[in-house]
Amino acid sequence: MKNKRCIVTGGCGFIGSALTRLLIKETDCQVLVIDKLTYAGVPESLKEVGLDPERDVDNDISTLNSQLATLNSEKRLAFLRADICDQEAMDKAFAEFRPDTIFHLAAESHVDRSIDGPGEFIRTNITGTATLLQAALKWWKQHPSFVFQHISTDEVYGTLGETGYFTEKTPYSPHSPYSASKASSDHLVRAWHDTYGLPIRITNCSNNYGPYHFPEKLIPLVILNCLDGKPLPVYGKGANVRDWLFVEDHARALMLVNEKGADGETYNVGGHNERTNLEVVETICRIMDELRPKATSYLDLITFVTDRPGHDLRYAIDPSKLMGELGWKPRENFESGIRRTVQWYLDNEWWWKPIHEQRYSGQRLGKG
Ligand code: NAD
Ligand code: TYD
Repeated sequence: MKNKRCIVTGGCGFIGSALTRLLIKETDCQVLVIDKLTYAGVPESLKEVGLDPERDVDNDISTLNSQLATLNSEKRLAFLRADICDQEAMDKAFAEFRPDTIFHLAAESHVDRSIDGPGEFIRTNITGTATLLQAALKWWKQHPSFVFQHISTDEVYGTLGETGYFTEKTPYSPHSPYSASKASSDHLVRAWHDTYGLPIRITNCSNNYGPYHFPEKLIPLVILNCLDGKPLPVYGKGANVRDWLFVEDHARALMLVNEKGADGETYNVGGHNERTNLEVVETICRIMDELRPKATSYLDLITFVTDRPGHDLRYAIDPSKLMGELGWKPRENFESGIRRTVQWYLDNEWWWKPIHEQRYSGQRLGKG
């Protein structure tokens, strides 16, 4: 990633902020984060790389030129508050920032919310992606080395039975409004490549976890409920399997695919860490018992609740293409990554407490 100019959409979200932190800390790239700051956008997640959550959050398109003028080898991060569905703003962002690449992560990302209200998922994930593709296409005609990298999910492949893995050749079969909207966006990206020649890469990754994860998702929800002494809701029997990847390992894979991946190719990202949901929750409880002991075990808080409608049974990634062709290897396994994650939440109440108090405090979503 030598000296590139990168747009990161959704850079105030969980994975986009992990990628942005790595790009700023470990490369000499300049980064323009584009984020609408929905309920899931947390500018504080970029504080350690110089974003000022008070000063910078209202930086709209009218401020972009003056912001970009201040970028230099020390200050390499700019922030644009904008909706990816806004064609004029996206065109202007490309023309003014003149990117070498875009990492497109902005999306509505929570399956349960997609069950309660699919509209925003259709708008952002499908229309937003098409809007960015149009902006990118115009820009690529002036800058032929430009690459559009689309970040997607393994959920587009649907569900596995007890055995087998998702490969890049697995047919798409999404079940939730979220996964169907992501599948649509993947198809749009491939269509812009096949029809117009736009250089692209697509990655489909398994479930991520780690620091700065919005507490609506299973792992941070369980950690915060443990701290609150609240029930730990396990859907159905807790037998559904997810393949968990530490978020920084995903971010490193994205940089590698951007640099070394081939035009038009898809890469599945996952580190062979399949766990049932019940195993995940029990593991967190045992770590909490060790790090924050109480009179009774956190295991006693586990509560089985009504299942999610259309709940996919099992996801598991075959990452051999990414590992074999590009040499990617995850640094964390589930045991090391989950311990780091629990410890991070214990040490970083400043980040999650305002979210927990003002935006989302653990109520059940997505019952259908
Ligand atoms: P997130 O919900 O934490 O963050 C999404 C970000 O996008 C937020 O900052 C939000 O403000 C922004 N955003 C939403 N709508 C927008 C719009 N219309 N315009 C501009 N910004 C907008 O999501 P995440 O978990 O970081 O996921 C990032 C991407 O990775 C998504 O595309 C998701 O589908 C994909 N993905 C996620 C996982 C996972 O386990 N979380 C796994 C594989 C792939
Ligand atoms: P989630 O973190 O929402 O990710 P995804 O739906 O994208 O896989 O959920 C992970 C798994 O945990 C999924 O099988 C649903 C389950 N789950 C629970 O059992 N309880 C909960 O409170 C939540 C949010 C999820």
